[in-house]
Amino acid sequence: MAILPVKCRKKRSCSGYVSLCSGISFVFIFLLCGSALAAISGVCADCHTMHNSQGNTPMNFDGSTTPNENLTRGTCYGCHAQGGGSVTVVQGTSVIPQVLHSDTKHLAGGNFGYITGMAGSGAADNKGHNIADLTGTDSVLYAPPGGIRQSFHYDGGTVNTNNLTCAGTNGCHGYRYAANSYPEGITGAHHTNMGGQLNVADETGNSYRFLVGVKGFESDDWQENATSGNHNEYLALDAPVQLGCAGGGVLSCHVNAAGVQPPDGTMSQFCATCHGNFHTLTVGDGTDNAPGNSSGVGAVANSPFIRHPTDLSLPAIGEYAAYTSYDLQSPVARLAVPGSSSSSVVPGSDAVMCLSCHLSHASDYPSMLRWDYDLMIAGNAGGASGTGCFACHTTKD
Ligand code: HEC
Ligand code: HEC
Ligand code: HEC
Ligand code: HEC
Ligand code: HEC
Repeated sequence: MAILPVKCRKKRSCSGYVSLCSGISFVFIFLLCGSALAAISGVCADCHTMHNSQGNTPMNFDGSTTPNENLTRGTCYGCHAQGGGSVTVVQGTSVIPQVLHSDTKHLAGGNFGYITGMAGSGAADNKGHNIADLTGTDSVLYAPPGGIRQSFHYDGGTVNTNNLTCAGTNGCHGYRYAANSYPEGITGAHHTNMGGQLNVADETGNSYRFLVGVKGFESDDWQENATSGNHNEYLALDAPVQLGCAGGGVLSCHVNAAGVQPPDGTMSQFCATCHGNFHTLTVGDGTDNAPGNSSGVGAVANSPFIRHPTDLSLPAIGEYAAYTSYDLQSPVARLAVPGSSSSSVVPGSDAVMCLSCHLSHASDYPSMLRWDYDLMIAGNAGGASGTGCFACHTTKD
């Protein structure tokens, strides 16, 4: 058994293969199990320290003396936000993706360094999601804008800029508000991580980028070298639905004992777990949103809308019909999780999503947009023609 890859022994990530793995030749097993999975591998000591001490010197990457949960050699920040000059850091045989650095390019989620001024055109809280310990809190936004239902969502009573964090109850990655039988956060995810087509998403390791319940296709280098034909893929619906907390025929984000997650597995619904009002169809009685603020994108999934729609297929007619080549700066989502990424856009099927306009961690532009909104000038777009809004609104430039 010694030469079985570690991935095959992970019953949780490879359960379908376990019986196969016992009886067939090692070569076949390696090919079968190795291709679809991306669990971390490598010497334990690359990432773990048993006592945070060797030669009486701390083992943490940042030299800090505090030992970490799961005996890792860093916190999330210690491994993923090292503040260096590159989008990845090589640690032993592993590559650690970076979310805070000074490089002028960034991985798919963006760079928290835009908020702090470590990268880009200067520090600004409105460039992204402030994570208190990493970037400081947001000086303007306390609650998530667009939070729906009951005071504790739209007034920041649950998640707010003081407690927003990487993983866990007030985070984005891992289990959030889950029952006791589920560990809050991402524990176990790194060793059960799967890559490529993620169409099940019923635990952290097999969900898109450890976002529990989110389905998608993962580019294996986090888009370090993305092209129009090699990139992440996201799931969407062809039309938005009503989202809420529970009951009344409204789909709940509190899906099951595993806690808060997008009920249909789409990226836009994931964002809506905190910013629901910017995504849902109008819900009922006006108690779903802050007083005086009409809820949702509209009563039905047709123009005219009252907020920009997401999880909506591009019409196959009019200006939208001309968006046929995938633009990395204004991506679309698909109605089914593909097995590989594609450089084509199919109006009538592919859909607009939150990440068509926003990054997820931080960007170099206000409101965490992918591009400079000031350059989106109708009828006079100049060099910005065909970019940003104009990728879809092809006749407005
Ligand atoms: C490339 C980095 C890396 C390497 C190499 C690595 N680990 Fe981990 N391991 C992690 C991280 C990060 C966590 C904590 C987060 C999590 O559980 O996803 C973790 C968590 C764990 C946990 C607790 C959660 C679980 O999955 O059971 C155990 C046990 C563990 N590692 C054992 C090992 C052993 C034993 C080795 C060597 C054979 C090893 N790890 C090698 C990164 C690594
Ligand atoms: C000891 C170093 C270490 C620590 C601590 C650590 N990570 Fe990781 N993480 C890694 C490595 C290495 C990878 C790349 C492994 C891979 O994709 O197979 C990774 C990958 C990831 C990914 C991408 C997963 C994917 O699907 O590609 C996410 C998200 C992530 N980590 C989140 C976290 C969060 C949140 C924390 C803190 C709770 C954390 N990590 C702590 C080393 C670490
Ligand atoms: C766990 C809750 C949570 C989730 C999930 C979440 N956000 Fe947020 N978001 C917040 C909070 C809290 C703020 C306000 C604090 C801040 O801006 O740092 C915020 C602020 C924002 C802002 C304004 C940034 C600024 O400072 O002007 C944008 C844009 C945004 N979110 C987009 C998204 C998108 C897109 C997604 C999905 C990829 C998403 N959010 C998912 C909690 C969340
Ligand atoms: C990924 C594609 C995409 C991008 C990028 C995009 N839109 Fe849209 N937009 C749509 C779709 C789809 C609709 C709805 C079409 C329909 O069903 O009538 C829409 C509708 C609209 C509407 C009309 C709403 C209504 O009530 O009919 C406006 C205004 C609009 N978008 C503005 C913008 C602006 C401004 C930007 C840039 C900040 C932008 N859009 C970027 C896809 C996109
Ligand atoms: C068509 C492009 C587009 C799409 C799609 C889009 N946004 Fe935005 N978003 C913007 C722009 C532009 C702003 C700047 C404020 C404005 O124009 O209302 C913004 C602002 C925000 C803000 C900050 C609001 C504030 O008060 O500062 C949040 C939060 C946000 N968006 C979340 C989302 C979420 C969540 C989704 C998906 C459900 C989404 N956005 C989809 C373009 C978009």
